[in-house]
This record gives sequence, structure tokens and C-alpha cells, in this order.
Amino acid sequence: MNTVYSKYPECRMRRGRSSEWVRSMLSENILTVNDLVWPVFVKEGTNNSEPVKSMPDVNRLTIDLLVDKVKEARDLGIPAIAIFPVVDQNIKTLLGEESYNRNNLICRAVEEIKSKVDGIGVICDVALDPYVVHGQDGLVKDGKILNDETIEILCKQALVQAEAGCDIVAPSDMMDGRVGAIRAALDNSGFEDVSIMSYAAKYASSFYGPFRDAVGSSANLGKSDKKTYQMDPANASEAIREVAMDINEGADFVMVKPALPYLDIVANITKKFSIPTFAYQVSGEYAMIKSAEGNGWVNGNDIMMESLLSLKRAGASGIFTYGALEIAKQIG
Ligand code: PBG
Repeated sequence: MNTVYSKYPECRMRRGRSSEWVRSMLSENILTVNDLVWPVFVKEGTNNSEPVKSMPDVNRLTIDLLVDKVKEARDLGIPAIAIFPVVDQNIKTLLGEESYNRNNLICRAVEEIKSKVDGIGVICDVALDPYVVHGQDGLVKDGKILNDETIEILCKQALVQAEAGCDIVAPSDMMDGRVGAIRAALDNSGFEDVSIMSYAAKYASSFYGPFRDAVGSSANLGKSDKKTYQMDPANASEAIREVAMDINEGADFVMVKPALPYLDIVANITKKFSIPTFAYQVSGEYAMIKSAEGNGWVNGNDIMMESLLSLKRAGASGIFTYGALEIAKQIG
């Protein structure tokens, strides 16, 4: 850094902020529709939309209505959606067999979207939590989350999603070694063109609360937590190892989650690795913005845009946000 050039009064930083045109000329980062991935919730039935109480403007949609919304997202230029199922409680089991039922809700939704909407990517979550009575992301035995046994099921789950036509499988379960196993399972079945977006640095966060309400897994999880597999919020360097391992196992893209409270992690990872890195603005982050807006305490739109821009500044290639549709309408 040359201090001569940053000396007042010869240098006046405010010259670069003095008008709209100079500010836009000098702006280093920009949020575009291309950066947005829209997470959506799908449920059984037809012609029904059910609001998620803790996530204003977010609805659980039946497949038919979802297809229309996905078309709308595509028309706005949103590159991809991430789809999450609301699974009926009576289908949930101890072993989560429904997760690899070729005709499950997710597979039917993906098929329907793929047959009716061109030009938008579909990302499917790979984890057991929507399908199990205990709400954990893996199989449980004697109070322990089993790693290797869970991976076998995750591979089956990824395979049915690939068969249904999904473009990207996104393991969000945080079991060790699942990326490599899923890659091998996909390749062995001729799905070498299906990508893996690994939730590589996923923290054991309380910001997931509204999501668990949305998919109906919070009651299943009860007072338990996910701390034996999701990362400790105190840890930063561990995220580097997580990402490195997933890259070695064949991840095409990686994810940091949540987003804003983990901005340092996003920045570290994008500096350290050359791999597309996504940030997930999770349900709790979204709910905080929306509820403060609902109370008239903040300009929700402005703080939403500022939060997303901060993720671009930190180097994110793309951002998952429940506000994607609204934002795309504005900036598109
Ligand atoms: C499930 C999963 C979760 C989220 C995405 N996939 C919840 C969890 O890990 O408990 C959270 C998304 C959000 O809060 O918006 N494995």
C-alpha cells in the first residue's frame, strides 16, 4: 500500500462518492438475477398454497402450483430452484425409506417441472430429515447418528432424484465421505452429468428454525440437535478442511450455510479455493428481515439487498434466498 496516495488533503475519498454516476462507475460488486437460487417447498395435493407462518411470503405449494411458479422464476431469469419436500407425518419412518422411493413427492415434482419448464436448473436436497420420525439427517442407533450406514441411503436417494431428472444433487447431511460415495453411485448408474453441490460448511445453527417448521421436521427433532455432524459455530479453519475434503471427493460446487452470520467463512473459502461457492441465506435470516420489516422497524427491501450484496463482496458465486422471486422482479 502506497501511503503517499492516500494522504489528505491531496486525496479525498469522497470524490468517488459525490454523485450517482461516479458511485456506479466505481462499484466493485453487483447483484444480478444470475446470482439467485430460489428454495421452494412442495407438498402433496392439488391447487393448494399454504403460507409458512414464520416465513412471510413463503408458501408450501402443491406440484401444479409449483410448476407455474417455476415458470415465473425462469421467465425472470433465475437460473435454478432448490426443492424441499413437506412429507406427510404418516410416511415418516425410523429408516427413512421414502427418501429413495422413486415415486416420492420430490421425484414427482422434479419430473413434472422438468417436463413442463425448460431452461431452469433443479437442485435436490440429499438428507434424511424430511423422511424420518426423529428428524435427524441420518440414521440413528442408540442415540448416535450413524455415518456409513446413512451414506448408503443417501446414495439411493441421490439416484432416484437423478432418475427423476434433477440437475444437481445437494447433500446437506454433513456425513463424512458422502460426496465421494454419491459421485461413485451416480457415475456407476450413468449419471455422470448430474452435478454435486456439497453443503460443505454447514453449521449447527439455530437459524434453521423456520425451515424446520416449513417442512414439518421441528416436532420430529424435538429437543435434539445436530451438533454431532453439523459444524460448531465457533470454528473457522475447520471449514477449510471440510471444503477441501469435499473437493477431493468430487464436489462440483460447495456451499456455506447460513450466510450472513458466516460471511468470514464465505470470504475464506472463496479466497482459498477455485470452486464455485454458494451461500445460503437461511430461513432464520430471511425471517429476521421480514419480521423486522413487518413491524416497520427497517426497510426490508434495502436490508435484504444489502445482505445479498455483502455475500457477493465476500466472493459468493451464487446465493440461495427465499426472497429470490421478489428480488428478481426488482432487479431483473
Ligand atoms: C436439511 C436442511 C436444512 C436446511 C436445508 N436443508 C435444515 C437442517 O439442517 O436442519 C435449512 C435451510 C433453512 O433454514 O433455510 N438437511
